[in-house]
Amino acid sequence: MADTRTVMIVDDEAIVALNIRNLLRRQGYEAVSVHSGEECLQKIGQGIVPDMILMDINLGPGRMNGPETTRRVQLQHADIPVILHSAYTDPETIQATRDMTKYGYVHKVPGNEEFVLATVEMAFKLQERERMYRDLSAHVNRLREEQNAFIAREIHDDLGQSIAALKMNLTMLGRSLKDAQLEPIITDMREILDATAIKVRTLIHELRPPVLDTSDIVEALTWHVREFEKTFAIPTSFLSSEQTLELEPEKSLALFRIVQEALTNSARHGEPGTISVAVKQEDGFLRVTVTDDGRGFSPGGNTTPRSYGILGMRERAEQWNGSLTIESVPGQGTSVSASFPIGPEPSGEAS
Ligand SMILES: Nc1ncnc2c1ncn2[C@@H]1O[C@H](COP(=O)(O)OP(=O)(O)OP(=O)(O)O)[C@@H](O)[C@H]1O
Ligand SMILES: [Mg+2]
Repeated sequence: MADTRTVMIVDDEAIVALNIRNLLRRQGYEAVSVHSGEECLQKIGQGIVPDMILMDINLGPGRMNGPETTRRVQLQHADIPVILHSAYTDPETIQATRDMTKYGYVHKVPGNEEFVLATVEMAFKLQERERMYRDLSAHVNRLREEQNAFIAREIHDDLGQSIAALKMNLTMLGRSLKDAQLEPIITDMREILDATAIKVRTLIHELRPPVLDTSDIVEALTWHVREFEKTFAIPTSFLSSEQTLELEPEKSLALFRIVQEALTNSARHGEPGTISVAVKQEDGFLRVTVTDDGRGFSPGGNTTPRSYGILGMRERAEQWNGSLTIESVPGQGTSVSASFPIGPEPSGEAS
């Protein structure tokens, strides 16, 4: 193993913790054990951040239990894999902890240590795969944005210039012909050219959002919401706690694309009467919420094959250490919320 990875064992039974710690150390892991959820949080708070946690469920009467400790750890470090390790085998506990971690639940019985080890190894592999997948997805997004920017530039320099030239020539033609019969035709042509110029400009903006030039996400979203409202004729409000907000261009772009997809989904699938977009900066986080009053859906239900919008939104948020939440109930509208940490620490993977 190139660099030693640290596993934190959270268990109130000292002998269990000791056995597992020794086993992991023999396999080349760094292993530390703590005896309560409180101690686990305290250590992490002090900067002792493990690469993985092996978490007991019941951590003693009157003490914080494993699920609550996990929840608190994940608020700060969503990326630390947590494996549950508990003597509970009743269906209620299994069910209640099912969504807590995707890295496994090992039954805590003497002689099961090899299963703990196998699960730790598998969990590290799963985490590695997820990282690779995330890096690949970030790479593909970057390529797509570069390609979009290239196409936008070509359209701007080529089509944009041609339309401008056509308009000028048409004006000159109208002046020199001075033919009353041709006048309405020329006016009509000028209007078609004007409409085409607007379409071209919108297309350029969609391909390469102005957020790349300004980095001001509030300005970019104001513009996009206005364009969206015009295109889909759905009343869409925009509310921001900030007048302007400068972020790293890549982060702004990620947010912009999330809002773009959420709005497109509302228009395509929701048939809403109204939509609202809200931007709020609070406690070091920037939260953008798109809410519609449309038909809603079951976010946890079966996803349509070949649907990548929600997946892409989530990827973009997580790429920046943020998160995406979707709340929707059939018949009661949909709310999509992306939350990004803002501050001096950009995500390493996205840089
Ligand atoms: N605002 C919404 N209102 C109602 N249903 C929605 C809404 N947003 C998403 N959905 C449902 O969730 C599904 C998945 O959305 P997602 O954006 O992932 O895929 P998609 O829009 O179908 O395809 P694409 O990959 O082009 O985005 C949609 O097909 C739709 O059924
Ligand atoms: Mg979609």
